Amino acid sequence: AFNLRNRNFLKLLDFTPEEIKYLLTLAADLKKAKYTGTEQPRLKGKNIALIFEKDSTRTRCSFEVAAHDQGAHVTYLGPSGSQIGKKESMKDTARVLGRMFDGIEYRGFTQATVEELAEYAGVPVWNGLTNEFHPTQILADFLTMMEHVDKPLNQVTYAYLGDARYNMGNSLMVGGAKMGMDVRIIAPSQLQPNPELIASCKEIAAETGARVTVTDNVAEGVKGCDFLYTDVWVSMGEPQEVWKERIDLLLPYQVNKKVMEETGNPNCKFMHCLPAFHNLETSIGRDVYKQFGLEALEVTEEVFESPHSIVFDEAENRMHTIKAIMVATLGC
Ligand code: CP
Ligand code: NVA
Repeated sequence: AFNLRNRNFLKLLDFTPEEIKYLLTLAADLKKAKYTGTEQPRLKGKNIALIFEKDSTRTRCSFEVAAHDQGAHVTYLGPSGSQIGKKESMKDTARVLGRMFDGIEYRGFTQATVEELAEYAGVPVWNGLTNEFHPTQILADFLTMMEHVDKPLNQVTYAYLGDARYNMGNSLMVGGAKMGMDVRIIAPSQLQPNPELIASCKEIAAETGARVTVTDNVAEGVKGCDFLYTDVWVSMGEPQEVWKERIDLLLPYQVNKKVMEETGNPNCKFMHCLPAFHNLETSIGRDVYKQFGLEALEVTEEVFESPHSIVFDEAENRMHTIKAIMVATLGC
């Protein structure tokens, strides 16, 4: 078996395909154990810090439930209420928390911050989302894909549509390249991932047998896909002034019934990391819809609520995969 003890989980680029496969298998095993009531606590007596400089539902609850299931205790440090970022640097915070905790989750802004935390903490650090990467989400996504197709991951084809310059576009491209998949990043040219990251993924693909395509052509990009994936169009704290321009640019990349049909695959599934703006039931959603007079943003209500949508399987799998990461890096 692979030994990931004491490793950080900061980005998928740091892991081999075999290590990622190992985490997915462990997650599937832990999920089965929970369902059958045979789970063994492997984190008994461990103390875990959860740093969230940004809000969260799935990631926070996944870490809390997973830790609890495995016998560990968590301390939540939210966007306010600690000294982080105001009175105390990340380097000092890392050295303090490293003296008290066995593992630390961090959600915040730059990847450099979580890398610095890991450098100085001296205990495993797990990335719960940065601007650049969301690696725990990808493990959940791949576990979900494995549960919904009858073939190995390296025969799976998927596309990400939307703003591809940040955490989701980047991480889905890296993950697909690592696991030998056929991954298409579909975005207008201004919103495509940074060329250096594309080049690195193509290099990885040359070794793993993956296909990495970056295109602005929706019809070509989605052809033959097993899964279409999207994320919200405005999530990186952009000012209201850019929303209109962004939405105009991305409307042709909306996941709707027509785009699902363009895959040519009647079994194509819809995925989204969530939260999603598919209706008027949130305060931000309401503002955006009203302001721009739109009926849908990144995904239509019709697709989101259709039998093709597997978004809540994905959400559940956040917990099982995050549990696998903690057990692998910290468990006995
Ligand atoms: N997908 C995801 O990370 O959701 P939260 O922001 O709710 O954690
Ligand atoms: N791009 C989104 C992903 C949420 C899981 C964000 O950074 O908020």
